[in-house]
Amino acid sequence: MCGIVGYVGQEAACPILLEGLSRLEYRGYDSAGVAVCAGAGEGLSVHKAKGRLQVLSELLQGGAAVQGEVGIGHTRWATHGAPSDVNSHPQVSQSRRIAVVHNGIIENYVELRAFLMEKGVPFVSETDTEVVAQLIEYFYAGDLLAAVDQALHRIRGTYALGILCADCPDQLVAVRKDNPLILGWGEGCNFIASDVTAILRHTREVSYMNDGDIAVLSWEGIQCYNHLMQPIAKERVHVDWEVDAAEKGGYPHFMFKEILEQPQALRRCISPRVRDGAVYFEDFCLSPEEIRAVQKIYIVACGSSYHVGMVGKYQLEKLTRVPVEVALASEFRYMEPIVDEHTLVLIISQSGETLDSMAALREARKRGAKILSIVNVVGSSIARESDQVLYTWAGPEIAVATTKGYSTQLVLVLLLAVYLGRTLDRVSEEESRALLEELVRLPDKMEAVLAGRDHIQYLASQSFHHSSIFFLGRNLDYAMGLEGSLKLKEISYIHSEAYASGELKHGTISLIEEGTLVVAVGTYGPLFEKAMSNIIEVKARGANVLALTTESHVDRMAAVASAVIPIPDTHDLLLPSLGIVPLQLFAYYVALMRGCDIDKPRNLAKSVTVE
Ligand code: G6P
Repeated sequence: MCGIVGYVGQEAACPILLEGLSRLEYRGYDSAGVAVCAGAGEGLSVHKAKGRLQVLSELLQGGAAVQGEVGIGHTRWATHGAPSDVNSHPQVSQSRRIAVVHNGIIENYVELRAFLMEKGVPFVSETDTEVVAQLIEYFYAGDLLAAVDQALHRIRGTYALGILCADCPDQLVAVRKDNPLILGWGEGCNFIASDVTAILRHTREVSYMNDGDIAVLSWEGIQCYNHLMQPIAKERVHVDWEVDAAEKGGYPHFMFKEILEQPQALRRCISPRVRDGAVYFEDFCLSPEEIRAVQKIYIVACGSSYHVGMVGKYQLEKLTRVPVEVALASEFRYMEPIVDEHTLVLIISQSGETLDSMAALREARKRGAKILSIVNVVGSSIARESDQVLYTWAGPEIAVATTKGYSTQLVLVLLLAVYLGRTLDRVSEEESRALLEELVRLPDKMEAVLAGRDHIQYLASQSFHHSSIFFLGRNLDYAMGLEGSLKLKEISYIHSEAYASGELKHGTISLIEEGTLVVAVGTYGPLFEKAMSNIIEVKARGANVLALTTESHVDRMAAVASAVIPIPDTHDLLLPSLGIVPLQLFAYYVALMRGCDIDKPRNLAKSVTVE
């Protein structure tokens, strides 16, 4: 949730930290802070400010106001203690000798705080993080690493930590448990960061920290230790993401840029995996015998990734005839799931760091399941703990509301469904070939949908004043509606719900009154007539219906709906991939017209690394 960056080098640290934080702001944006070692005997220079990073940046004149070549920075998403200057990170020890930035939650902080207060340690903030700084100082007797090690033995919870000590002005210590933290290897400088985008301008050589790893960084190198404090060597990985990919590049918002990038992202995801009418996955972890032994597929995810799972259930069941269950990761981990060695668990996560999804993965593994994951961020925790990871290759996604992450996950689930369906012989070669040929055409068709965005903007201009909007659909259209509704509510703050149309008469219809806006998703050919009937029902109660349908159904739809959004015809199983685009655009334009902060909606964060 929070973003951490750290720098040890020979240049002024503060501008580098602020620049790095600007790329991590999507992880949390209620306050920000930096701590810089001002030099031997000079102490730590700590600056914090409530609000967006911009506030801190202006305060520090873009970093020019702070001297020193070693520092840590933080952008916060508050868990313990409201957003305020004092609760912002870095948190410092009572003598201000130790400064700490933290992502995660210290579960036993109340107990530790009481212990330290009994020893006379005064506390100034409401955060759980302050105990880390105070505890390290409590154990500190001239050896920072030893003090960190002792403190970690007392701490329970999840953390990625960046630690500075005024007595070691050319060092930075980093620790990780259940929260992401990477090490960056530069020329005459080294880095820590929550995410590669923060340091991409300086280096592409990174190492992924494992749980329990401790790293000591100086400008000359990085020394890592395991949880037993034994020195370990870290593998270096080259990251080939483009720096530009994480920049707005003239677009008003990352979300808009990422919506428009979808056709290209889809091509990157599809083309290396489709050859001669078949799907190829490199080194697939399951042999054909193991695939035949799978009795159930469990898709587990959060947020939009969960909505991909809702579409995926229809696709996988249709093409494999293996039963598929879809569970929210936050529920799965506590529901004693019926999972064993005959279950294939599919974890879907754009970030690869969502804590609930990670916990679900571990729960499923404990029960003997094989774990397959669909992830965007290379080297992320979920990717590394899975038996097999299928990368979406969507490139960095910065807007909090996912778009290209969602679309690429969707096509990857479909590719998986075809792959499994062929292996199980539940899909004929001819059927698979036809579906894949259409899949290859999908990016071009998506471009056509994007080209029609002015129409969506116009419809948004007629709709943005509504205070409640309903999405209706059946089957794949329902699953798509769930995502369309989430997009709208998360960025425009309009109350919105998606319902399976068949459920309408069991309650929801009582909410429909004169002028209620209903977005009817009616793209799925086999159920088109039923979609029409439901539209007629809500129209009869006064609803204003915006209908999404395929070009071949536009005329019939136009006869009943107030306005129609057409998408090109395609294979039934690919309809959600095209249909979601107008819904994303609709959410975007509505939020724009309401003056919302589109890339950073209130109270949200992109990577949810707390429970
Ligand atoms: C957050 C994001 C959502 C995302 C969800 C799951 O809530 O704002 O856009 O769908 O986390 O994230 P994941 O990275 O696991 O897909």
